Amino acid sequence: MTDKAKDIGTGKYFTMVTYGCQMNENDSERLAGQLKQVNYTYTDKTDEADLILINTCCVRESAEKKIYGKIGELKRLKAVKPELIIGIVGCMAQKDREKIIKKAPHVDLVMGTNNLHKLVEVITEVANSKEHVVAVWEQSEESAGESPVSHKGKVAAYVPIMYGCNNFCTYCIVPYVRGRERSRQVSEIVREITALGQEGFKDITLLGQNVNSYGKDHQAGTTDFAGLLKAVDKIDTIERIRYMTSHPRDMNKDVIEAIAGSQKICEHFHLPIQAGSDILLKRMNRGYTTEYYRELIKSVRTLVPNASITTDLIVGFPGETDELFQETLAFIKEIQFDAAYTFLYSQRSGTPAATMPEQVPLPIKKARLKELMDAQNEISLALNKKLEGQTLEVLVEGDSKNDAAKFMGRTRTNKLVLWEKTGKESVGDLVNIKITHAQTWLLKGQAII
Ligand code: SAH
Ligand code: SF4
Ligand code: F3S
Repeated sequence: MTDKAKDIGTGKYFTMVTYGCQMNENDSERLAGQLKQVNYTYTDKTDEADLILINTCCVRESAEKKIYGKIGELKRLKAVKPELIIGIVGCMAQKDREKIIKKAPHVDLVMGTNNLHKLVEVITEVANSKEHVVAVWEQSEESAGESPVSHKGKVAAYVPIMYGCNNFCTYCIVPYVRGRERSRQVSEIVREITALGQEGFKDITLLGQNVNSYGKDHQAGTTDFAGLLKAVDKIDTIERIRYMTSHPRDMNKDVIEAIAGSQKICEHFHLPIQAGSDILLKRMNRGYTTEYYRELIKSVRTLVPNASITTDLIVGFPGETDELFQETLAFIKEIQFDAAYTFLYSQRSGTPAATMPEQVPLPIKKARLKELMDAQNEISLALNKKLEGQTLEVLVEGDSKNDAAKFMGRTRTNKLVLWEKTGKESVGDLVNIKITHAQTWLLKGQAII
């Protein structure tokens, strides 16, 4: 960094809006870390900001629409404050660099996913230029993990273990905007988590688009995901370790056994199935069958008996007939997921599924989504009801969003719990909560202290 760049933020404010997944949340924390290093101050007041960054997602059309709406709103601000810098960064920027400037000429900078660690240089360039700055690299050899991080929370933090995705599921844009898989070194990951523990963080989520292929891009014989889990389980300063996302095809017995034999890896398996029909899974290029998935769940439940299992589902994938949809419905009833994130299939241009025949009309997709959500909600509620009367270990993560008299936290199985504060527990503590009332997405209880 040049001397001049070191204080480009002195006396200036930045704000940031983040869309998309946990990887984007973490990228935003790394962007904020870089800005703070050059003396920018964070503000949550958009009107006050000298720099506004929008970290974007393009996984579904609905996300893009929302983001273009947000970018449009900023035009008014730029008109009254011409020196304001507006930056569009992340996945949609990687994909639509030219389109963004065309649609929104008030945007000053467009920056992709591969060079986010170069933010300060790019902002310096914008400040010295009258043109739009488009800084979109194809793929960086440098590890983006090494930029400073300004964590949003105080108890739970994300730590990326790998970037990119090699899977090319036929509906998904992620491999095109995030590039090929690159794993960080075990030593770097352990160092980052150890430091977070020393700062007081208790709950760490290891991030990657497909964490189960961790280390495959390193030399043969080096640490794989099971090995990484064993290594991070030994870090004393941390209470809980989570990871996301797993690809069912690459989840194996070694990993499940490593989790079963660990102290800190939480008993929560998020295993996106996407569809419960073998025909659709094949067209999606997921690389497993329902029978394989069924066996996988059996191993999980045998080796980690109290595990919670959650999933992602897409409805209305091209060629999904009512009969195939019924297979998905029957499958979720059979597996009994604790929770499922359900999405309407969204055509992403450039992906193979976008041009597949037999696209499903929107009203049919919506009706199926409702049917699926209703069925899943019933299952989630029934499973949560079984927890009533039980006492569970909960990590105090902060105040309840709607009621400052209550704390919120999560169980090891990743269930959200709310309870009346007793005055004896503090943020970051592990407390026993007796569950008194279960809802579909939430447990309510009483602290036993
Ligand atoms: N790498 C992770 C997350 C990918 S994006 C994984 O493989 O699970 C998160 C979820 O978005 C996916 O699991 C999928 O259910 C959904 N998704 C991805 N592309 C989509 C599309 N084109 N339309 C609808 N949902 C999609
Ligand atoms: Fe997308 Fe599939 Fe990669 Fe997940 S594994 S990011 S769904 S291509
Ligand atoms: Fe995440 Fe959306 Fe990008 S889901 S990887 S922010 S396209």
